[in-house]
Amino acid sequence: MTRAVIVGSGSEVAPTRVTNQQMARIMDTSDEWIRERSGVQARHFATPDVATSDLGVAAARKALDAAGVEREEVDLVVFATMTPDHYFPGCGTLLQHKLGLRDVPCFDVREQCSGFLYGLQLADVHIRAGLAKTALLVGAEVHLGFMPWTSQNYDYALGRSDVPPTKEEWDWNSRFRHLVVLFGDAGAAVVLRAAEDGERGVIDHDLHGSGADYQKLYVPGTGFKHRPYTDPEQFKRGDHIPFMDGRYVFRMATMRMVEVARAVLERNRVAPDQLKLVLMHQANLRINEHCQKALGLPDEKVPHNIDRYGNTTAATIPLLWDECVRDGRLQPGDLVLMVAFGAGMTWGASLVRA
Ligand code: ACO
Repeated sequence: MTRAVIVGSGSEVAPTRVTNQQMARIMDTSDEWIRERSGVQARHFATPDVATSDLGVAAARKALDAAGVEREEVDLVVFATMTPDHYFPGCGTLLQHKLGLRDVPCFDVREQCSGFLYGLQLADVHIRAGLAKTALLVGAEVHLGFMPWTSQNYDYALGRSDVPPTKEEWDWNSRFRHLVVLFGDAGAAVVLRAAEDGERGVIDHDLHGSGADYQKLYVPGTGFKHRPYTDPEQFKRGDHIPFMDGRYVFRMATMRMVEVARAVLERNRVAPDQLKLVLMHQANLRINEHCQKALGLPDEKVPHNIDRYGNTTAATIPLLWDECVRDGRLQPGDLVLMVAFGAGMTWGASLVRA
């Protein structure tokens, strides 16, 4: 039987670190509130010249090096992001070109925080079906473009300007405070290779999507439902910034992540103590603490990075994977469960032997 094995990973975190205290210089929030409610202590944002594809390319280079795979060997690209460089084309072909890959199929996946798991299934089925042998799967995000503040406000937050926000700017930034404090920019990638008859590789997936409540977490404007698809009025209303009913999303995430994790474990007859690690999407530390408790997992099986990076959306799970490989927590042969929930709504879990 052919299996898709993760043979290398790499990640690139954006360079500008912004602490909660710095966020509190430009909106009505506090380190205490952000830490207690979400677990985020700091996030990183991209510099103005860096787009999502660039973070993806930097991560992919490291993943190819770690895997010892040459560029000409890659025969499939899957790029998951909700913050693409352009409305079109997607980031897949941009990455293909920047990395100097052959003219291989390039898919773009836009399932937000579940994007990496959707991409993993796509790469896995291509490999199992014999359509690809070496796939590059990337998750990357530059959320900075969603942020409501002016560049002068941002400079003030970072201590590069002495001009504080006006009352109007402060109120505008504060309107989005429940959302903007959660996100950060990063890219991460894995290389998957076809392997015959081994134990290692992707074992199972369980993905779900339901648009019934999509308006609980979405970008109201800048879409083709509007004609023209973008105009100054939408920006004045703030419709280019995601709307999120945080309490609703919190409830759904805790319910669905536990449900889907249990489903995958049960149908593969895996007990939680057989898992080496459970890599959970990092939207809120409290969501993950709830899931950890419900699944009966000890702390050492559930790594976090939300404290350092916030929610990096499609980059989150491969970033966690890469960190665990680098610090030795994840070794070839270890059994890993990945679980995510995000906008759409979308959710899923994947079981992988590293
Ligand atoms: N600083 C200070 N106060 C704040 C902030 C802030 N940053 N944000 C909100 N508040 C205030 C609110 O105004 C409210 O005040 P009020 O009681 O006077 O009305 C109070 O804090 C409580 O607000 P809630 O929204 O109820 O706070 P909650 O505890 O639910 O935390 C949070 C909000 C962190 C957003 C949480 O609901 C959450 O994490 N939800 C899930 C997020 C998620 O999983 N997103 C999915 C992934 S993203 C994707 O797929 C694109």
